[in-house]
Amino acid sequence: MSAPVVVITGALTGIGRATACAYARQGADLVVSGRHQDVGDQLAEELRDHGAQAEFVCADVRREQDVRNVVDKAVDRFGRLDIAFNNAGTEGKIGPVTEVTDEGYQSVFDTNVKGTLLCLKHEFRVMKEQGGGSIVNVSSIFGLMGYPDATVYAGSKHAVSGITKAAALEGAAHGIRVNAVAPGYTRTAMYERVNSAKDRDAIGSVLPVHRPGTPEEIAEAVQYLASDKAGYITGQVLTVDGGLMAGWPLFPES
Ligand SMILES: NC(=O)c1ccc[n+]([C@@H]2O[C@H](COP(=O)([O-])OP(=O)(O)OC[C@H]3O[C@@H](n4cnc5c(N)ncnc54)[C@H](OP(=O)(O)O)[C@@H]3O)[C@@H](O)[C@H]2O)c1
Repeated sequence: MSAPVVVITGALTGIGRATACAYARQGADLVVSGRHQDVGDQLAEELRDHGAQAEFVCADVRREQDVRNVVDKAVDRFGRLDIAFNNAGTEGKIGPVTEVTDEGYQSVFDTNVKGTLLCLKHEFRVMKEQGGGSIVNVSSIFGLMGYPDATVYAGSKHAVSGITKAAALEGAAHGIRVNAVAPGYTRTAMYERVNSAKDRDAIGSVLPVHRPGTPEEIAEAVQYLASDKAGYITGQVLTVDGGLMAGWPLFPES
């Protein structure tokens, strides 16, 4: 595939932004989306400076019409949709299960779960018609195991892992591959929001590779999964976590 047409949600920061920049450097045709028009316009300009063709569409993934607009922009502007990276996500309010609220649940599940489903719905609409495509969702290591005080977020990311497998089975007959990345601790704004400075120090010492990942490292894994090099891989949730899920690490020397 020479210049794939790529759609990315939640592209204005962190992992989404790093992935957009990586695709732009490869000369992809990009539709990036997010919730802030001014930042989005700047990002599109930056991506064009990297040599890509890029459009920004302002979109909240909780709204179906917004998601439809993002996907339709790819088809209207570039004629097809090869790769979709469904990255937008929120951690919501981290706290004990006794403090879960309707509002908190809704914000996390509507973004992480309904948002992913809406993206898949509209990406499938186009990819089925054109005879194939590749989709990468974003789960988390907390979509594979638990974490205290993050029941809602962990529940939503477990849902993304399950949705990925079910959608992969449905897509297979149409040449559509659906996988997910499950990042571990990755240095982004979300990582800073969720983990205190003290926690961040501790994370470095318990991770097998002794450091959190970078958004660029997650982007590399996304690009691999989305590419033809992973042509026989579908329905998989790839942990990109510096070995965290491989097992219990050695205790740091005291
Ligand atoms: N960093 C980690 O350690 C880690 C680990 C595992 C999984 N993840 C997952 O990785 C993905 C990217 O997160 P990140 O680490 O790069 O953090 P981030 O910088 O906070 O990125 C999240 C992006 O999603 C956007 N977003 C949130 N709600 C949205 C909505 N309703 N509609 C459209 N966009 C929305 C945010 O934009 P706004 O500014 O508009 O909110 C932001 O640009 C998320 O799905 C996250 O759950 C991250």
